[in-house]
Amino acid sequence: MNTLNHLAIIMDGNGRWAKTNKLPRTAGHYKGVEVLRSITIYANSLGIRCLTVYAFSTENWKRSEDEVNYIMSLPKIFFASYIKELMENNVKVMIIGDRDKIPSETMRVINDAIETTKNNTGLILNFAFNYGGRDEIVHAAKAFAKDYVEGIRTELDEDSFKEYLYTKDLPEVDLLIRTGSEMRLSNFLLYQLAYSELIVIDTLWPDFNSNVLDQCIAEYQKRKRNFGGRNETESH
Ligand code: FPP
Repeated sequence: MNTLNHLAIIMDGNGRWAKTNKLPRTAGHYKGVEVLRSITIYANSLGIRCLTVYAFSTENWKRSEDEVNYIMSLPKIFFASYIKELMENNVKVMIIGDRDKIPSETMRVINDAIETTKNNTGLILNFAFNYGGRDEIVHAAKAFAKDYVEGIRTELDEDSFKEYLYTKDLPEVDLLIRTGSEMRLSNFLLYQLAYSELIVIDTLWPDFNSNVLDQCIAEYQKRKRNFGGRNETESH
């Protein structure tokens, strides 16, 4: 049985779902928020420790101003509707990414949720928001260089480097699910996904549900993880 402590999801396909349903793209994102709420509660009930979701990438600023503004309003919609339920379910909110460029009102709402849920001990719902994997690695390298110059660090190895990543307090990512069928990482958790299992499914994020998650977990349980070592069941 593979442990599943940390699940990461690229929630793709909101736009296509909206188009198929003859709705504006924003309606796809709104439906995506509702799905995120139900998957958070379900993942928590399964005992998963951490759920990291790709909510806004450093590249997503290239979208139309209207769409960017709408996505920046999603935390307010999400937490206004669901903070009570998150508290009842002992869910702790976190964020990874470059906070500096996030509008102050959006950041205020997110900080409120982080503060309100900080003592919760259930699932960590970790928003990758204005997050980019390359940006994170450069940010970590700069922080290390500063500590090195100041004599705080003298050695740099894999374990000490991890302490400079946004995910320093989180368990290793066991499984990445990407909805919406695109076979790429899109600059998500580039360092952390080194030995994660990857599952790409055709289901668009607004159509994702607990049954689909169950199917992904069943597929993950069939995988033989060997982290670059040799699989003991192989005879050749
Ligand atoms: C990708 O779909 C989705 C996003 C860029 C936004 C995802 C955000 C959410 C699901 C809600 C997050 C919730 C909070 C509270 C911040 P796309 O628009 O790229 O879809 P497409 O590939 O079909 O066009």
